[in-house]
Amino acid sequence: MIDKVYVPPIKIQGIKTKIVPLISEVAWVDDNITWIEPFMGSGVVGLNLAPKHAVFADTNPHTIALYNAIQSGKITSYDVREFLEKEGKKLEEKDEKHYYYIRDRFNEEHNPLDFLFLNRSCFNGMIRFNRNYQFNVPYGHKPKRFAKAYVTKIVNQVKRLEDIFPDVDWKFKCQSFEQTISEADTQSFIYCDPPYIGRHVDYYDSWDENHEVRLHDVLVDSGAHFMLSTWDKNKYRKNEYIDTVWKECWKVNQEHFYHVGAKESNRNSMLEALLMNYNPQNVPAMKKNEESYIQMSFLDEVANA
Ligand SMILES: C[S@@+](CC[C@H](N)C(=O)[O-])C[C@H]1O[C@@H](n2cnc3c(N)ncnc32)[C@H](O)[C@@H]1O
Repeated sequence: MIDKVYVPPIKIQGIKTKIVPLISEVAWVDDNITWIEPFMGSGVVGLNLAPKHAVFADTNPHTIALYNAIQSGKITSYDVREFLEKEGKKLEEKDEKHYYYIRDRFNEEHNPLDFLFLNRSCFNGMIRFNRNYQFNVPYGHKPKRFAKAYVTKIVNQVKRLEDIFPDVDWKFKCQSFEQTISEADTQSFIYCDPPYIGRHVDYYDSWDENHEVRLHDVLVDSGAHFMLSTWDKNKYRKNEYIDTVWKECWKVNQEHFYHVGAKESNRNSMLEALLMNYNPQNVPAMKKNEESYIQMSFLDEVANA
């Protein structure tokens, strides 16, 4: 089980940092399989778990471009430091004027370093694009955002990738989940973290019932072991698709707390679910762990009880 989670340089809403240890316990991975992650987002799950062979994909071209640039050496941790120190200094002097200058420049030129700057200084580390695929997240209003310690933190996150890349066979691709899953076979492990239905509105990131059903069908057709992250319930509602679309899966849960806005009173709890097309007790690493705290259920049996 992973207990120290490596945090990647990109932030994204719905990032799974807190669930990585649980995923690492129930994912069926070893060095012979290819890790396939069709909705990589920040990449935090695969970057922590992925064995030697992996395909990371997403429809957001800008995260993929950044990882590809780091992998090819086009952007180094040294470049990141230089860039963030220089632009961070201007942010401190000119405040939001400079943020919006970089945002306009990014929307014209699509430089991955501008994307990193915006991602780390925008409101709440969000990634959101309008219908013209223009990044439109407002400023986070922290002119001293790129203080020395923060720049060093980001540089170390990039360095960690530079350390991993030479030893692995990882590919980063900008493509739809259908394309990515069509490249899988029985030697693949597919981890999916799609947008949650009704929870994200974004033009690289829209999701409805048709997407959910199609995702289920292509996963089943792939013949691979797969795992899906989704939400189970909160105090207001439950995710109906778990008992319908995904009813033949196994499920494990973890409680997750998140904040809406800055106030402590807006702290909400959400039960996260991992759904799998295999019994997690059969995962070789799990069998050794007889005292596991993990609660699991076979959905079909629960539904028919
Ligand atoms: C919830 S986020 C994934 C977060 C990721 N697991 C993490 O921890 O950082 C969902 C991702 O799916 C991507 N996405 C949305 N629709 C997609 C599609 N049709 N095909 C592939 N990726 C898609 C979004 O761009 C977004 O990065």
